[in-house]
Amino acid sequence: MFGWLNKNRGAALAGQDIIPVIAIDGPSGSGKGTISRRVARTLGYHLLDSGALYRLVALAAEDACSSLQNTECLQDLARKLDVRFEASDTGKERVWLGGQDVTERLRTEETGAGASIVAQIPAVREALLDRQKEFRKPPGLVADGRDMGSQVFPDATLKIYLTASAEERAKRRYKQLKDKGLDVSLAALSRDIENRDRRDSERTLAPLKPAMDARLLDTTGQSIEAVTKTVLDWVAEL
Ligand code: C5P
Repeated sequence: MFGWLNKNRGAALAGQDIIPVIAIDGPSGSGKGTISRRVARTLGYHLLDSGALYRLVALAAEDACSSLQNTECLQDLARKLDVRFEASDTGKERVWLGGQDVTERLRTEETGAGASIVAQIPAVREALLDRQKEFRKPPGLVADGRDMGSQVFPDATLKIYLTASAEERAKRRYKQLKDKGLDVSLAALSRDIENRDRRDSERTLAPLKPAMDARLLDTTGQSIEAVTKTVLDWVAEL
């Protein structure tokens, strides 16, 4: 099946440049996180959840910066972010920020909204750039975000842009948060997603949009298994 990957595994070990990267970008609720995790697990690749880095900056800023407009403080935080990602027995990752387990706080809508505000600041994006590139290690990387194919890994082996209707994305987020026992309203979530989409698409630096050479995949009405299969089929074709 994954002939290309096996052929190149040896070569990949020899040099950073040819370590394969599967870049999976798209808006909130498009399924990037779930699909990326599954694809990475199947291929035995590393995983970069770049949104988590922006969320961590927003979280850390709650304690360290006077406001989310304090660019200097945010840039400093982004540079020094003391973060640890740890796989747990259940297969779910736990995230530690400066020795504190922030896994649950990281996933709230408030943190997501804060992340999309700090992500507008060029100095923050710049400070996180090298940190994201460091995830590119043998045998390969699946990178999930908004600008993985367009900015962080422009030479990615495969670039995918996942989409889904705004309605379906809101419903997915609703189910995810409900399953975690959080009290949320679908109408409020739809509004949050709309606002976040607008901020992410309209910012001047690294706006949310498909890389020129990305393959588009609309996941509306598709199961996780079906989308994962399509991505793995594309990988196998490489
Ligand atoms: O993917 P996630 O919802 O965790 O991302 C949170 C926010 O971080 C996004 O709404 C976006 O503003 C920002 N982000 C970004 N670039 C990335 C990943 C996330 O600007 N590569």
